[in-house]
Amino acid sequence: MLLRIFAAILLMLFSVSAMAGSKPHVVILATGGTIAGEAPDNTQTTGYKAGALGVEALINAVPEAKKYADISGEQVANIGSENMTSDVTLRLSRRVNQLLARDDVNGVVITHGTDTLDETPYLLNLTVKSDKPVVFTAAMRPSTAISADGPMNLLEAVQIAASPSSRDRGVLMVMNDRIGSARFTRKTNTTALDTFKAPEQGYLGQIAGGRIYWENRIEKKHTKNSVFDDRNLKVLPQVVIIQGYQDDPAYMFDAAIEHHAQGIIYVGTGNGSASTRIEAAMRKAEKAGIIVVRSSRTGSGIATMSDSLPGLAADSLSPDKARILLALALTKTHRPDTIQKYFHQY
Ligand code: SIN
Repeated sequence: MLLRIFAAILLMLFSVSAMAGSKPHVVILATGGTIAGEAPDNTQTTGYKAGALGVEALINAVPEAKKYADISGEQVANIGSENMTSDVTLRLSRRVNQLLARDDVNGVVITHGTDTLDETPYLLNLTVKSDKPVVFTAAMRPSTAISADGPMNLLEAVQIAASPSSRDRGVLMVMNDRIGSARFTRKTNTTALDTFKAPEQGYLGQIAGGRIYWENRIEKKHTKNSVFDDRNLKVLPQVVIIQGYQDDPAYMFDAAIEHHAQGIIYVGTGNGSASTRIEAAMRKAEKAGIIVVRSSRTGSGIATMSDSLPGLAADSLSPDKARILLALALTKTHRPDTIQKYFHQY
């Protein structure tokens, strides 16, 4: 009898330690933003300092995340995302690739400011060579605010990064219980918590009652099926965005030529349309060797190829995501037909 009790205790101890050892390992890479922001007053939700807390403080604020994963953290930057530049985002991408190549890392969470969160996740969607989960999260309220949204967003991001069900879905963006694809999700409101949306394509899934519900898959190419490789890239080629409107001046295109831009995203009216004045400016830029891509200022829909206008078409990419794709495309080719194909595929 004693022997059987002893064996049962041994078995219990063994299974507890096996369970502990079997927890996934998630690495949190912190880059700053409001999720790491601090204000002197708990009602202050604008005009605070973004990127004030370090990664350890973020992790310590959510001890519940250890339920899903063994967690380690690294500080990649600590800045407001309006100050993100491609030397930082490419360094981040390289670090994610290094981490995900390790057998002992199951997923990565990246904390980031919301203001340019349309851009960095899409860059990594094209440059990360792994199908392990890469999950961006952020916050609209600083850590010091009443009902700060950062801790719950971080908890859910860790849960998603730790889950094998999140593999091979492209880079994900998690906020406010919603899981979005980096390809389609954009910031749509200046201050509201539910600012991240994909107006036409919707979310990939959501979290409710502590459970992940997947609802859609992304059809566009991403991560390990992407042809883009950032290993030797220190900064992105210069691609500028020019906004279209009534009376928009053609000299913006002259400035792009003068400053040796390699690409221009034109944010056209409607279906990427442009006045006769801008049409001439686009042709001049193309003659100077610049790749011009027409996108739309409407915020949704597809910018299609035109029989009459010059330039390529951005497909359903927002202008700032189109800038990322064109910049990466220019590291591989200057052939317009190949670049147009990328815009349809990615
Ligand atoms: C930022 O983008 O870093 C500031 C704004 C925010 O995170 O909400």
